Amino acid sequence: MTLAAPVQETLYVELADRSYPIHVGDLGVQQPERLSQLLEPLIPGQQVAVITNDTIAPLYLSQLLQALGQRQVDVYQLPDGEAYKTLDSFAAVTTFLLEKRHNRSTCLIALGGGVVGDLCGFVAATFQRGVAFIQIPTTLLAQVDSSVGGKTAVNHPVGKNMIGAFYQPKAVLADTTVLATLPSREYAAGLAEVIKYGVIDDVEFFDFLEANVSALARRSSATLQHVILRSCASKAKVVSEDERESGRRAILNFGHTFGHAIEKLAGYGQWLHGEAVAIGMVMAAELSVLHCGFPPADAQRLRTLLQGLGLPVILGQQRIGVDAMIEAMGMDKKVSDGRLKFVLARQLGDVIISDDVSLNGLRKLLTEQMS
Ligand SMILES: NC(=O)c1ccc[n+]([C@@H]2O[C@H](COP(=O)([O-])OP(=O)(O)OC[C@H]3O[C@@H](n4cnc5c(N)ncnc54)[C@H](O)[C@@H]3O)[C@@H](O)[C@H]2O)c1
Repeated sequence: MTLAAPVQETLYVELADRSYPIHVGDLGVQQPERLSQLLEPLIPGQQVAVITNDTIAPLYLSQLLQALGQRQVDVYQLPDGEAYKTLDSFAAVTTFLLEKRHNRSTCLIALGGGVVGDLCGFVAATFQRGVAFIQIPTTLLAQVDSSVGGKTAVNHPVGKNMIGAFYQPKAVLADTTVLATLPSREYAAGLAEVIKYGVIDDVEFFDFLEANVSALARRSSATLQHVILRSCASKAKVVSEDERESGRRAILNFGHTFGHAIEKLAGYGQWLHGEAVAIGMVMAAELSVLHCGFPPADAQRLRTLLQGLGLPVILGQQRIGVDAMIEAMGMDKKVSDGRLKFVLARQLGDVIISDDVSLNGLRKLLTEQMS
């Protein structure tokens, strides 16, 4: 299917006075005049701080600086990597802003993937009790997931994302052209989250992805624009209904309970987050077959789509014990006091949150899946 799309499209995350636009398409990150027109109404003040990293800065920073014109613009460049999403980096960025005399009317811009976005967002949430910030996500994962929804965080040695805040950006600028330089594994990892939206919210979108595997593989810009918009629309809808994850927002975690455990047990960095989520979604689909009548043929469709887009669907050579998995998922502790919640699919596009999975049932599934 060939798609003809306008150069850019906009959708809104509806959150009363915290509502904001997500612009998607060729936004001109590589063409400063066009980018400038988008940024102008978003930055009323004269101070701006750009937070980015060593990989992204050489690719896209100079264009952004040109687009920002004559304002006071200070740039904080982090080393690349999840290892820098820490309280130390948080403190370093905060000190930098104070030394450069940024005040409450400053605007922070996150130029980068989820690591930069999560850290910058957390600084924005706390600096002078909260300043404006704009997300310019440069990975597919950040464009369809981490930049939307207002979760910001840094890691603690005890666990990922343990310190953070809900804090919404003023806008998200998801420019499809920057995805051209993204390494293939990172690109595929973003597609895992895209596929998730098809499973949890939108069967027609799932059908579309199946029909467009080759366009996605060649990173067709029109296809990507559509895919990012649909993904953000799903996420925006869920977030608008449950901003602080007191209930329904948990459906965004389909496959993640398994995925997080896989990431942790394999050692962070072994699997990318999206890769672990891909394997986790297959496990969640099989659990859904056992617990709520998810058709086995649809579990197979999910597996085929993930594989078609270059994602792993089994642990392969990696040996992780079933007991270790259960412990890492917290199931061993949670059975006694309240049960672990799983997101399960009844059919494609229709999921429920269930606390009805028994320890024995989970053990049986994992034994099958991991042997
Ligand atoms: N806030 C949320 O709701 C949320 C949701 C999901 C994930 N996350 C967080 O997001 C983070 C993962 O984000 P990520 O997958 O974007 O990883 P990342 O930010 O580490 O980026 C992946 C790699 O791609 C490089 N890169 C980024 N854009 C590039 C481009 N256009 N061209 C070339 N290289 C580029 C980065 O420098 C990095 O090496 C994790 O910390 C995770 O906890 C947050």
